Amino acid sequence: MFNVIRVRNFEELSTRAFEIILKTVREKPEAVIGFPAGSTPLGLYRMLIEDHRENGTSWSGCTAFSLDEYVGMPGYDSESCYSFLHHNLFNHLDIPEENIHVPSGTGDLAASCEQYNELLEAHPIDVQILGIGSNGHIGFNEPETSFDSVTHVVDLNASTIRDNARFFDNDEDRVPAKAITMGIANLMAAKKIVLLASGSAKANAVRAAILGVITEYVPASVLKMHPDVVMIIDEEAASALYKEKR
Ligand code: GLP
Repeated sequence: MFNVIRVRNFEELSTRAFEIILKTVREKPEAVIGFPAGSTPLGLYRMLIEDHRENGTSWSGCTAFSLDEYVGMPGYDSESCYSFLHHNLFNHLDIPEENIHVPSGTGDLAASCEQYNELLEAHPIDVQILGIGSNGHIGFNEPETSFDSVTHVVDLNASTIRDNARFFDNDEDRVPAKAITMGIANLMAAKKIVLLASGSAKANAVRAAILGVITEYVPASVLKMHPDVVMIIDEEAASALYKEKR
């Protein structure tokens, strides 16, 4: 089912996502979950940390996968996806470090992709959390990425470099030109996908993903072929959709 949940704002979006992830971890303590970096999931991550601290929800049996990593950036670099996810989530939960997987963006990249695909095959994802790029990308799968792609190295689009410069002191020259990302086929293999979109910068991408045709020019449009997707979008992200009563 392709389920679109429209909410008022970022807080509500985070709460709805939190409820889904909490239910997953409570019902299946050995759940495998895919996590994105980026600002959209930060409210969700804050709620998961609070819940772990206050209610003691255990993550000790869970396995975590990062969606992607910048090429040329070692994990210890503070701007890497590895650091971002550790700093904003993993360091505050009790997932054993050996159950946390982030593709390596340094060294032999072909080997890194192959190894990640093997890990993903060995640990099928129960819930994949996604954000969406303003150009419709999911993970770092830019427009025109094959729907059959598995973990691979990508050249980032100019628009993605521009969007992500905010994580690099607004200096586009510091944003890596390449990334390693789970492919579309890896994402589609997840049992459930929860996509979060917040803010007017995502409105056109959300419109194209929901109302447009399924095309590799809009990577998120592939989700319409998945059997279990929940798309949680706030008012601003929904602003280019047809008007309807809430
Ligand atoms: C980044 C990441 C995506 C993320 C998207 C949106 O480039 N690779 O995984 O979902 O862009 O990021 P944000 O949530 O900060 O808008």
